[in-house]
Parts: sequence; structure tokens; C-alpha cells
Amino acid sequence: MTDFATLYRMRFGLDAPDPDETPADVSAIEPILSRRSVRRFRSRPVGDGLLAALLACAQSAPTKSNLQQYSIAVLKDPDRRARFLEIIPQAAWAATAPLLLVFLGDVRRGRRIAAQRGYEHRNDNVDTFMNAAVDAALAMQCFIGAAEASGLGCCPLSVVRNRLDDLKDLLELPPGVFPIAGLAAGWPDGEPDISMRLPPEIVVHQDRYDDAGLEAAIDAYDGRVFAGKPIPPERQRHVDRYGVAARGVWSENVARQLSLPERAEFRDWLRRQDLNLD
Ligand SMILES: Cc1cc2nc3c(=O)[nH]c(=O)nc-3n(C[C@H](O)[C@H](O)[C@H](O)COP(=O)(O)O)c2cc1C
Repeated sequence: MTDFATLYRMRFGLDAPDPDETPADVSAIEPILSRRSVRRFRSRPVGDGLLAALLACAQSAPTKSNLQQYSIAVLKDPDRRARFLEIIPQAAWAATAPLLLVFLGDVRRGRRIAAQRGYEHRNDNVDTFMNAAVDAALAMQCFIGAAEASGLGCCPLSVVRNRLDDLKDLLELPPGVFPIAGLAAGWPDGEPDISMRLPPEIVVHQDRYDDAGLEAAIDAYDGRVFAGKPIPPERQRHVDRYGVAARGVWSENVARQLSLPERAEFRDWLRRQDLNLD
């Protein structure tokens, strides 16, 4: 077991808070504190029994009012897997993953249940959409946590939203159902680096929101990340437009990524898919 101070330093590049205030036994939380996304997998398959158990864990996630407004697509058929991989060429590495899933927000089921029982679904609005998206995300994270605790590695895939119509055709998504993310999972081949997170002082607010120290904290965070692992030119965003950054730091990459719209057609697609965003 690694001690908390070491785990904390790996996660934040900072000294842990007062040792008297931190847990002495971190065995239960060590897998979370040391987690990382995995994008390379061994050829060993994941058995159906383990998959069923992980899906049961996903369905154990908290869910808004127990409405359970999500679904999970498991891609097993080789042809569909191949078509799925064609839709996400940016994630060619996912071809090595024995498990490919797509987590879906699902407003359709509630609509059907209301209609079946003779009610009008008048609670169908952007809050419902948000609840469905949150439900699906929490289910995905419960799957990830359970998978990692079982020795598997995972990586979510937002690139599944790059070609929405193709994904809709592939999964035969009916109105009211939309993808939040894919997930690749399997037995890790190698141990990727732990990615350093923002300091808690700017993410965790005491009693009231206060980001007065943001610039200085980001500068210091950039410095810590850069000292350990500068972002190399090939992983810098939009080099074709902005050139190679003199200093490959996190905030430069974030600002570059946010400078151009991604998936600008998503809202219109959701509306065509009969999601109510009003
Ligand atoms: C909703 C969501 C979508 C993501 N989509 C992708 C993706 O399409 N491709 C990818 O390589 N990683 C994807 N990731 C993984 C993130 O890049 C990764 O979590 C982040 O860089 C932090 O690294 P870590 O998970 O190793 O700590 C996604 C993560 C989330 C939560």
C-alpha cells in the first residue's frame, strides 16, 4: 500500500494536507487516487461473468429520483465493433479493447412508461435532458470504478459524438436516446502516467465560491505539470493554427482547445433526435 502523502503528491504535485487530518489506511481509496485512463490493452478477453458484474455496478449508481434515465450499449458483434471503430478513427487504439460500450441518456423509456400508464409527460424539458445525461455519466463512472477495482483499465470516448448520425444508425438509437460517451475497457498493457490535477484550493470552495487566486494558482500548476511532463508538440492543440507553443503547458492547451467550437451541431442533432432542450 502506498501512503497518502505519496498518492497526494502524485495526483497534485503538492504536499498532502496536515497528516493528522488524512486517513492512515488508504487501501480502499488508493485505486481512485492513483487512477488513470488506459488506452492500450492486452489481448486477454473479459469474461461475460465479469462484464455482467460490472454492468450491475453501473446500474448501482445513484440516479435522479430513481428515474434511471439511461441505457448502456455493449458492442459485441464483430461487424458492429468494426463499424464503431470506423466512426472514431481518432481513437484507433480502442481496437485493442475487449470491451466497447456506449453510455446513453434515455428519455424515451420515461415517455413510454408515462404513455403506457395513461399520463401525459409534461416534465419533458432541458432539466430532464440534464438528469438523463448525469444519470448516464454516473453509471459510466460506477462501471469505471468497478472495472478498475477488478484490475481492468478504461478510457471514456467523447469522440463517439463526432459522427452522431453514423452512431445513431449503428446503435439504432430511437428518438429520445442520445450518447454521452463511449467507453473502452480491458486488461491494461502497461501503466500510463498519472495525470496531475488542479490544486484543490481552486476547485474546492470553502462555504462560498471564490476564485480570486485563479491566475497565480494556474501558473503554479502549469509549472508543476511542465516540470514533470511538458506537453509535446504532437499533443498540443491546433498547432496548424497557432504554431507550436514555446512552453507546452496545460493552460495554453486548454485555451487553444476552447478557442474553437467542437461538435457545434450537437444541439440541432439532439433536437432532431426529439430531445427537448427548452
Ligand atoms: C466524458 C469524457 C470523454 C472523454 N473522451 C475521450 C476521448 O474521446 N478520447 C480519449 O483519448 N480520452 C477521452 N477521455 C479521457 C480524458 O482525456 C482523460 O480522462 C483526461 O485526459 C485525464 O486523464 P486521466 O483519466 O488519465 O486522469 C474522456 C474523458 C471523459 C470524462
